[in-house]
Amino acid sequence: MASTLAIDLGERSYRVVVGRGPEEAWVEPLRPLLAGRRVAVVTDARVSELYRAAFDAALGAVGVGEASWHIVPEGETSKSMETLAAVYDGLLEARLGRDGWVCALGGGVVGDLAGFAAATLHRGVPWVQVPTTLLAMVDSAIGGKTGINHRLGKNLIGAFHQPRVVAADLDTLETLPRHERANGFAEIIKYGVISDAALFEVLEDEAEALLALSSPRLLDIVLASARIKAEVVVRDEREAGLRMILNFGHTLGHAIERTAGFGSWSHGQAVAVGMVLVAALGAELGLTPASLSARLAALCRRFELPTELDPAHRAALAGAIGHDKKVRGERVQLVVAKTLGEVVVEPLPLAQVRAWLTR
Ligand SMILES: NC(=O)c1ccc[n+]([C@@H]2O[C@H](COP(=O)([O-])OP(=O)(O)OC[C@H]3O[C@@H](n4cnc5c(N)ncnc54)[C@H](O)[C@@H]3O)[C@@H](O)[C@H]2O)c1
Ligand SMILES: [Zn+2]
Repeated sequence: MASTLAIDLGERSYRVVVGRGPEEAWVEPLRPLLAGRRVAVVTDARVSELYRAAFDAALGAVGVGEASWHIVPEGETSKSMETLAAVYDGLLEARLGRDGWVCALGGGVVGDLAGFAAATLHRGVPWVQVPTTLLAMVDSAIGGKTGINHRLGKNLIGAFHQPRVVAADLDTLETLPRHERANGFAEIIKYGVISDAALFEVLEDEAEALLALSSPRLLDIVLASARIKAEVVVRDEREAGLRMILNFGHTLGHAIERTAGFGSWSHGQAVAVGMVLVAALGAELGLTPASLSARLAALCRRFELPTELDPAHRAALAGAIGHDKKVRGERVQLVVAKTLGEVVVEPLPLAQVRAWLTR
């Protein structure tokens, strides 16, 4: 049987369902919402090639007469005005009305794009998330943040719009390339550090088997991670403060992605280095135990994630962090680990962080 996690947001509450195989992971959770509805599936070319037939069959079993399919190119560049416009065209040409449902089948790119289309079409139509990447299952599919990029930056245009269900089939991860799985595990390692020492320890026990998807603990790990994301979202739906802890490793990670040129580092790789750097900095300042910093680096390596930057990139990073939106005055708000499972937000002097990076 599939496992379920409830996200309690009052009238916007929904379930995250994680299972194996289309029947328990897709058909059962989607049936109560989509039976007899007009449905538009938004997906990318790769996911469509792999899962269109299976998902169409699942929708048939749900009782959806005929779904329209809207297929965007794969990759981050699809979170654009142009692709969004094409999706609007497709949805409206398919006569998706106010009573229609959008279904996002794919990774975080499709989720963010389709979710934003759903948030804005007819001033908002209901939607469901069917994540097929590990990152989407544990992170992007949960929380209701949707949006696209602008040439001036990532995720600059968006809306909060909670899905009505998140229906994840773990078996779809079998086709996901290893480095894409590692991307998801970078976020899972993050959850361990920010709030769950036991989760971190399971990752230490099973790293290789988890990355190979052969560990029986995979389902538990995905659910535990989704639960942490959900708990933070429930307590801080609109990002007033607590959601900030989800940025552990991300302030530096985003700057690493930017300075490397978007696309040359994957998000998970950048976050892994960002987490390791902020732990080393925390250790230097006496805020983070040195042993934790070492364990974190060792764990990232076992998930085939990088843990170091060359000196030139460190210097570029030192220059770039001043431009981050998290900078207040001459301080940078960094999420720092106090112990395994607990973090604090520390406003650190920018000059000190820069000096440490370029030392
Ligand atoms: N909304 C949020 O709260 C939130 C949180 C974190 C990240 N994000 C966003 O998520 C995006 C990254 O998501 P992602 O890592 O899932 O990337 P993605 O959606 O680009 O998917 C990665 C690649 O895997 C392919 N793919 C997807 N499922 C597959 C499968 N089962 N088998 C084989 N290939 C498959 C896709 O075609 C794509 O090429 C970014 O745009 C980021 O900004 C959003
Ligand atoms: Zn992230």
